[in-house]
Amino acid sequence: MSAAKFFLVAGLLASGAYASPIQARTPYAVKDSHFVPSKWRQVAAAPSTHNIDLRIAVKQNQFTDLEKHLYEVSDPDHSRYGQHLSELDVKKLVQPSDDSLALVHEWLADNGIEAGDLSYSSSKDWIKVSLPVHRIESLLDTKYNVYRHEDGSETVRAPEWSLPLHLHEHIDTIQPTNSFFRSSPKAVSLEVNKFGGSYSQDVTYHQDPNVTAICTPRGVTPLCMRTLYETIDYIPQVSGKNKMSLVNYLGETNNRSDTYLFLEKFRPEAKETAYEFQFDVINNGSTSQAKVTSRIDIEGNLDVQTMLGFSYPVPLTAYTVGGSPDFIPSNGTTTNTNEPYLDWLQHILAQSDDTIPQVVSTSYDDEEQTVPASYAKRVCEDLAQLGARGVSVFYSSGDSGVGGSGSCVTNNGSNAKRFIPEFPSTCPYITSVGATMDFKPEVVAYHASGYASGGGFSDLFPRPAYQDKAVKAYLKGLGDRDAAYFNASGRAYPDIAGQGSYFSTVWNGTDTLVSGTSASTPLIAALVALVNDALLAGGKPTLGFLNPWLYKKGYRAFTDITSGSAVGCSEIGDGKGFPAVEGWDPVTGFGTPKFRDIIHLLGVHGYWNHTGGWS
Ligand SMILES: *[C@@H]1O[C@H](CO)[C@@H](O)[C@H](O)[C@H]1NC(C)=O
Ligand SMILES: *[C@@H]1O[C@H](CO)[C@@H](O)[C@H](O)[C@H]1NC(C)=O
Ligand SMILES: *[C@@H]1O[C@H](CO)[C@@H](O)[C@H](O)[C@H]1NC(C)=O
Ligand SMILES: *[C@@H]1O[C@H](CO)[C@@H](O)[C@H](O)[C@H]1NC(C)=O
Ligand SMILES: *[C@@H]1O[C@H](CO)[C@@H](O)[C@H](O)[C@H]1NC(C)=O
Ligand SMILES: *[C@@H]1O[C@H](CO)[C@@H](O)[C@H](O)[C@H]1NC(C)=O
Ligand SMILES: *[C@@H]1O[C@H](CO)[C@@H](O)[C@H](O)[C@H]1NC(C)=O
Ligand SMILES: *[C@@H]1O[C@H](CO)[C@@H](O)[C@H](O)[C@H]1NC(C)=O
Repeated sequence: MSAAKFFLVAGLLASGAYASPIQARTPYAVKDSHFVPSKWRQVAAAPSTHNIDLRIAVKQNQFTDLEKHLYEVSDPDHSRYGQHLSELDVKKLVQPSDDSLALVHEWLADNGIEAGDLSYSSSKDWIKVSLPVHRIESLLDTKYNVYRHEDGSETVRAPEWSLPLHLHEHIDTIQPTNSFFRSSPKAVSLEVNKFGGSYSQDVTYHQDPNVTAICTPRGVTPLCMRTLYETIDYIPQVSGKNKMSLVNYLGETNNRSDTYLFLEKFRPEAKETAYEFQFDVINNGSTSQAKVTSRIDIEGNLDVQTMLGFSYPVPLTAYTVGGSPDFIPSNGTTTNTNEPYLDWLQHILAQSDDTIPQVVSTSYDDEEQTVPASYAKRVCEDLAQLGARGVSVFYSSGDSGVGGSGSCVTNNGSNAKRFIPEFPSTCPYITSVGATMDFKPEVVAYHASGYASGGGFSDLFPRPAYQDKAVKAYLKGLGDRDAAYFNASGRAYPDIAGQGSYFSTVWNGTDTLVSGTSASTPLIAALVALVNDALLAGGKPTLGFLNPWLYKKGYRAFTDITSGSAVGCSEIGDGKGFPAVEGWDPVTGFGTPKFRDIIHLLGVHGYWNHTGGWS
């Protein structure tokens, strides 16, 4: 950085003394505070020598421009539809201004933190530095404490933190401070040694396959899914150019030998892919294929088996991300990588245009109210970069309807009753996936155990314009039902749905049934990978960020789900949450996909069927 630049910064600040090149010294003021979520309580002071990997989100220079690009390239009526941005285009838009970086560096240097201690995301919009608690306490004028979750896990957090006033506009958030976000896998209702469904490989390719004969609600198989959603006759054509991916967190990984057993049974032509899919290991994430000693890998196995079983031969990358937002400080942990979600985001955003996958499925989320607004906003903006680059990003909508019964209260000290939306499903730049069950007709997924397709309205993100028409129509029909318990002008989710009940899965060498939006999310992501295959084969760009297309045109190619509701929050109203209705609803969105209609709607005229012709 040149001296001239430094003086420019000083000039901008119009501050006093010339003792150092930049004279940005202002008093500290609270930058952000967040209520401690009700499931957490403070138990002790944080050990002062405990190390934290601090992440500083420096303000992105041109996010509004990035958002504009995102909406233009994702709008089917815009002349730029499908003209996704390159890695470099995005980098230029999100890199912080030189002034912001200079001011942040100056402040860090003033606190004895040198350039060599810092590392950066590829766009330099995140700075990472590892420091002991006592130094962060002085840097952020705060106090860290140990908090314990009602499930026993502990973490070190500071609900309120400060910055010199002049930095408030240059830094979006710093974590870990006040975020209690720790998303958990959304696989529920595990039943070991119970398999159902048709194992038949004697597939006849019907013009109108008989779903009733092939599908059974307890033991959903790839054959059933491919028949129901109409991909069975489709032969992928460009799988080398098109990739799909899933993300593992919290020690979960994908077991190759279980996956081989699964595919051998349900998709024999795909079985070798159990040993061929790629792991992309981030921060020492697990790829362990050892014997299980706990219920680990149920999520991981469900995800990988669903995607390979459905969309073979589209190649799959399994991101596996180490680190956990929780730790036991009393166990003498000296380093603590608290934010695995950011580790993943920064890794994928740094991937080049020819290695980044076109589809990402993530089956992990947490209550939106555990995430400070500043942090949720920034993570969501980073997800928008993926959409701008043409990546379709899918998150599960949660497994508790409008909220887990008995815990539907706000964090904000008032303990007011409230529906509990889930993040990142509430982020407007991703596609949120709900779940269905049964066939002909499919209905909202619901089990007596309490599992219900998640849905609702964000308390943080306003409703994006692309949703206006669909959501207003729903709200009109809803009237004032439960109106006091959600924000009707928030981003509503999910956007679409897929089957998510009793999937046949192999885990620990055993036939197992697994349910959840954890099943529907990889399923829908895998289906979109096939749509991308057809688009690429037809010389068209991939789908990218789906929602603007979906709400404008795509919805016509989905089967509307009109029976059931987002059951949850038994303490509110009749405990049934939002009902599914004709048209879009916050339980199953626009419903479940019809592959043939989707590709025809996208103008891909013809796909190979098994008789070898175009249809
Ligand atoms: C579909 O399969 C079911 C169950 O095997 C059978 O009862 C029904 O008649 C079949 N329908 C058609 C149209 O083939
Ligand atoms: C990576 O994880 C493995 C298995 O959990 C562990 O044994 C190893 O120490 C870890 N390595 C690092 C560098 O953290
Ligand atoms: C992986 O699969 C093998 C064989 O099915 C099984 O013994 C082992 O427990 C599995 N490990 C994990 C981590 O799922
Ligand atoms: C895995 O399966 C074996 C039997 O093959 C069983 O003994 C073991 O308890 C199972 N592990 C878990 C964690 O359920
Ligand atoms: C360390 O953590 C484990 C796992 O939570 C806990 O059971 C154990 O008591 C802890 N040990 C100490 C010394 O605190
Ligand atoms: C807490 O949230 C509820 C529901 O959003 C709201 O009605 C109430 O005013 C809030 N209370 C405070 C103290 O912010
Ligand atoms: C509802 O959401 C909108 C948009 O996010 C926000 O501006 C408004 O303050 C929220 N209202 C309440 C009462 O929380
Ligand atoms: C496959 O395509 C051919 C040629 O268009 C058509 O005659 C045939 O009906 C199609 N078969 C199926 C099962 O769609």
